[in-house]
Amino acid sequence: ARVVVLISGGGSNLAALLEAAQDPGYGAVVVAVGADRPGCAGLDIAAAAGVPTFVERLGDHPDRDAWDGALTDAVAAHSPDLVISAGFLKLVGSRFLSRFGGRYLNTHNALLPAFPGIHGPREALAYGVKLAGATLFVVDEGVDTGVIIAQCAVPVLDDDTEESLTERIKVAERAQLVDYTGRLARHPWRVEGRRVIIEA
Ligand code: GRF
Repeated sequence: ARVVVLISGGGSNLAALLEAAQDPGYGAVVVAVGADRPGCAGLDIAAAAGVPTFVERLGDHPDRDAWDGALTDAVAAHSPDLVISAGFLKLVGSRFLSRFGGRYLNTHNALLPAFPGIHGPREALAYGVKLAGATLFVVDEGVDTGVIIAQCAVPVLDDDTEESLTERIKVAERAQLVDYTGRLARHPWRVEGRRVIIEA
């Protein structure tokens, strides 16, 4: 399966996918990496791996809809079977979802439906939950509301800081993303109601 990965930051999830994809049996190949800003470390990781990159900045377009169209075209140019948001900090719009909806996945660093948005670990810590984790889901029009593919949990420790919890979540999150991207690449799958059925 051809995979385009969208990033805004450090790209540790991207790096894990690139490493897994070195095994031809993995089933997924990262064919391009896109970002909404130049200079993020993930773009360097992609370039070092010889993967084509592109950048679509919101500010370079007259409005959000135009940006969404340009992002859609940039991704479509690589004919992906799957598009994965791995730390991509922008919500896509209707153009993108009408093209890639149902095969656009996001990994979120909280156990949804708890703590959607960009401060999952901070809010989990502030709430005092004893389990935190990550959720891989199929993106829909809402913010972190899509159908859940997989979740993994990690303990919240008494002496955790936002940083230590974030890092513990990311370790589990990367393994989950690599595992499920491979499964979805290798097997037929479909969404039935609020469930994802993988025919493995
Ligand atoms: C991930 O933990 C993701 O859930 C969150 O941002 C992080 C991205 O990390 N939204 P990286 O850029 O893949 O290292």
